[in-house]
Amino acid sequence: MFEHKLIDIQKRLKQPVAKATGLPNERYVNEHAFTEDRKSVMGTGWACIAFAEDLPEKNYVLPIDFMGIPLVVTRDNENMLRVFHNVCSHRGMHLAEEPCQTKGMLVCPYHSWSYKLNGELRGTPHIGGYGIHEHPDFDRKSGALREVRSQVWLDAVFINLSGDAVAFNDYIEPLTRQFNDLCDANDRLQFASNNADCRTTMTVKSNWKLPVENYLESYHLPTVHPELNKTSPLDEHFDLERFENGGGQGSENYSKTPINGSYLPELGSWSGDKKNLAIYPVLYPNTLIGLHSDHLFIMYLQPTAMDETVEHVRISYVGDEALGAQYQTHRETMLQTWTDVFAEDIFAVERMQTGRASPGYEGGVFSPAMDAPTVHFHEWVADQLVKHA
Ligand code: FES
Ligand SMILES: [Fe+2]
Repeated sequence: MFEHKLIDIQKRLKQPVAKATGLPNERYVNEHAFTEDRKSVMGTGWACIAFAEDLPEKNYVLPIDFMGIPLVVTRDNENMLRVFHNVCSHRGMHLAEEPCQTKGMLVCPYHSWSYKLNGELRGTPHIGGYGIHEHPDFDRKSGALREVRSQVWLDAVFINLSGDAVAFNDYIEPLTRQFNDLCDANDRLQFASNNADCRTTMTVKSNWKLPVENYLESYHLPTVHPELNKTSPLDEHFDLERFENGGGQGSENYSKTPINGSYLPELGSWSGDKKNLAIYPVLYPNTLIGLHSDHLFIMYLQPTAMDETVEHVRISYVGDEALGAQYQTHRETMLQTWTDVFAEDIFAVERMQTGRASPGYEGGVFSPAMDAPTVHFHEWVADQLVKHA
């Protein structure tokens, strides 16, 4: 089915950057590769699937399509968030189809079994015959919804589908350390967001890995983002310290422009000599982050097909004050600026995708100076595929 064995792909990547060969076309254009990515790459690490604020009320349910697998995020009466396989234990009906507030139960539309939002099976009407709602041979506990391991971080909801990844805090520990170099933990918690003017989504016609690869490098800045390159130029970008599950780049000079003569509030503990520093890490597999002294954005990638990905973006600001009316223009401008930057990247990832139909391309060669983060990601993907084949 595939031209290249995973072990050979891995071997071609484990070379100095100048000699490495990237993931071959088949990893981007083949349906079976999409399913393998789901099982062995997206499913084995910690993947972001939603923002907690997508569940705005108690007793809320949010169905998610995770590369074809139906999941549901629930917020129960105590505000506890959980993720479950979105399927009835009885005959396997897909349970929730639309985000909605419930009366505290998920009710299957087929035979009306009902589940509490903590997954417990609560009601089994007529299971023992007409009018008899229990059966001595049926243990309700065996019918609970199957929970998926999950964790909320910076209001983003992460899952580990396979259930056997390292603990989330260990998975992201090197990233937390990079955050700590800039600001302290209490300050980070001040980030707040709201729905109205802090979010956007974009659909790109490409495999999910291409937006990751594009985000990891700043090499394309002068050509693809000429405006951004003026405020955050390529020569002031640097590679972040790469770690087991991530990498990226940063800017030493992210200059802020005042709006109506004022600036957005900044994190009080952001180290003074690093005010113009911004970091753009990727937490593998699918979370792209931008941390600045006055805002944080998170973009998570939702692969919807082998060649289609939805980018979900949410910007957070420092403290509730930044969400007030006096900063509305600032927030609108910020969202527009990043939307324009992300939109500029779309043609690049889409044309890399169509380029992967070419038999004249076998994974490509790399710039030894500029492409080390891309090679790191490719190697990580190949490692996951081999490890979890
Ligand atoms: S399939 Fe859900 S109650 Fe029967
Ligand atoms: Fe870009």
